[in-house]
Amino acid sequence: MVNDQNFGTSTRYAVIGSPIAHSKSPLIHSLFAEQTKQNLTYEAIEVLEADFESFVNAFFESGGGGLNVTVPHKERAFAMAEVTTPRATLARAVNTLSLNKAGQLEGDNTDGAGLLNDLHLNHKVSIESKRLLILGAGGATRGVLSAIADLANKPAAITVANRTVAKATALASDFAPRLAIFAVGYDELHDQQFDVIINGTSASLGGELPPLLPSLIAPNCCCYDMMYAAEPTLFLKWAKANGAAQAIDGLGMLVGQAALAFTRWRGVAPTTNEVILALRQGF
Ligand code: ATR
Repeated sequence: MVNDQNFGTSTRYAVIGSPIAHSKSPLIHSLFAEQTKQNLTYEAIEVLEADFESFVNAFFESGGGGLNVTVPHKERAFAMAEVTTPRATLARAVNTLSLNKAGQLEGDNTDGAGLLNDLHLNHKVSIESKRLLILGAGGATRGVLSAIADLANKPAAITVANRTVAKATALASDFAPRLAIFAVGYDELHDQQFDVIINGTSASLGGELPPLLPSLIAPNCCCYDMMYAAEPTLFLKWAKANGAAQAIDGLGMLVGQAALAFTRWRGVAPTTNEVILALRQGF
């Protein structure tokens, strides 16, 4: 795709997915625009799988500035992008599309860095030299690991536990050139303690919780759920009930990934804490 006329000058943005009606992204980006005094529009648009590529082409050909991509299109966006950032390449998924100066469709993945920024900036939690456990071995976990691969100061050890152990093992071998990852089943976690536990499973969507022993929680442990809801998720309830020092939901990750996309498109970095607060008050 060659169309560099809109690089840096367009004011039209959107998030595409299906379903999309309840997306908070338009509100988040309008709060960022207000905060940074940027003039732009940002809509949520329902795009079905069959229409994905044609929609993206038409959006940029008509002068669109950038797209966020959500379920179920992140892998298709990765396949479609002509250029991808190292973290998107590692994640094999793209949540942010724009045209680069050469007019090529460029894909980034800001999900994992959004989570790490939320932990670091808003909760003062560092994963450097910590024992990190990530639950789940799907796309959400890949996103976080690809952001960790970019860090200069890595965790002391990274363990990925998954119900289907083969999926965790495959993930560990994909990341092996960049990160050392222990891939295990939940039953292999006894006798171990972790300083940071991130839930990247979709278990809470079905009102379920992976089989976790309370002894996993080290003193001062921080538990982070990539999901969020008006009520604490089952995982966060488990964390609190078993003595975790912090139990954090994924709202800050949602705002954090949006902030990085906004910065990429507009060249201005919004702050996230007041936007997270505004969204929480709206719950
Ligand atoms: P995403 O892209 O959101 O990560 P995904 O690729 O479908 O979604 O991955 C979902 C993850 O949640 C998987 O790791 C899945 O475990 P399996 O690979 O064993 O299926 C995990 N998951 C979903 N429901 C779960 C449950 N009830 N208990 C434990 N893990 C669960």
